[in-house]
Amino acid sequence: MQVDQLLATPRRWLVTGSAGFIGSHLLETLLLHQQFVVSLDNFSTGHQSNLDEVRQRVGEEAWKRHTFIYGDIARLEDCQRACVGVDIVLHEAALGSVPRSIENPLATHAVNATGFLNMLVAARDAGVKRFVYAASSSTYGDHPGLPKVEDQIGKPLSPYAVTKYVNELYADVFARVYGLESIGLRYFNVFGTRQDPNGPYAAVIPNWARRIRENQPCIINGDGETTRDFCYVENVVQANLRAALTTDAAAINQVYNVAFGEQTSLNTLHRLLTEEIAALGPRVQYVAPIYRDFRKGDVRHSLANIDKARRLLGYDPQYSVRAGLHAAMKWYVDAALMTA
Ligand SMILES: NC(=O)c1ccc[n+]([C@@H]2O[C@H](COP(=O)([O-])OP(=O)(O)OC[C@H]3O[C@@H](n4cnc5c(N)ncnc54)[C@H](O)[C@@H]3O)[C@@H](O)[C@H]2O)c1
Repeated sequence: MQVDQLLATPRRWLVTGSAGFIGSHLLETLLLHQQFVVSLDNFSTGHQSNLDEVRQRVGEEAWKRHTFIYGDIARLEDCQRACVGVDIVLHEAALGSVPRSIENPLATHAVNATGFLNMLVAARDAGVKRFVYAASSSTYGDHPGLPKVEDQIGKPLSPYAVTKYVNELYADVFARVYGLESIGLRYFNVFGTRQDPNGPYAAVIPNWARRIRENQPCIINGDGETTRDFCYVENVVQANLRAALTTDAAAINQVYNVAFGEQTSLNTLHRLLTEEIAALGPRVQYVAPIYRDFRKGDVRHSLANIDKARRLLGYDPQYSVRAGLHAAMKWYVDAALMTA
């Protein structure tokens, strides 16, 4: 249904953070569905190689419907330039990572809070019809309830979580005061192809995929019974399209959990990853993980209730954790072979 809607009316979209993991998937899907896309990135954590891969996957004809702007959302002029003539914004650009924000809260604030506000102002002034943005499960903070439901949040546990909550507050105020329609999507531990496996702030799945492939031990913070609701990126793309295209007034100016709705412990994840990679690469052996102290700012358990997104957006995640790992690991192993 959403794809038909897309095809029926080509629109002009802005995807921020398009050289990153999730943004590059949004860009790819939109171009494959005949849309016109402006995208913006400053390559602070994203890569030209992600854009190159999208170009190669969509083909040259589709790529002609894409305009890339090298820009920084912390600069209002860059946001204004990107928003000209845009119908729908999918705002992904941010500095991810809880530990990064603990080490450098100013940098995280400048991009995630001030940059977000710049994007809202630019979208409002350009007459953007819908502003869909990447919120975060970190907003649940210290609230003990499980599964997480959208209207019950605790205190943030990191500067990153503060900025993501501030996004929701600003989006809500811009809807009330200026009538800017927005939808916030609280992503829960997204994974998939093109997620960066390198650097000190790499997410757990790509980081472990690299280590397992190289027969190195994975580092587990804590006892491994910490749980997460891992969500494959195709489910996230679906949620974005549904949020962007819904015409149901009750669904707009809301925030939604975007997850698969299943709890996986880090110990289980380690086993699943080892199995998936071993099935693809015969030289992979089981290497026991190394357990370290719990990490500051991390929550112990995370599990989403996704009923609200199902009910109001028609969100229907198609990829289980296992199916997503299967798809993603093939890419990580192939990518490694190509650069070997
Ligand atoms: N990956 C997850 O599990 C997860 C979970 C919750 C929320 N999120 C949010 O989803 C969004 C996308 O995350 P991702 O995992 O794709 O991260 P990513 O780092 O791969 O992508 C972010 C992109 O934003 C760009 N960017 C950063 N600062 C910028 C700036 N000042 N101006 C322009 N571009 C800038 C980066 O270069 C990068 O390409 C972020 O807002 C993140 O906070 C992600």
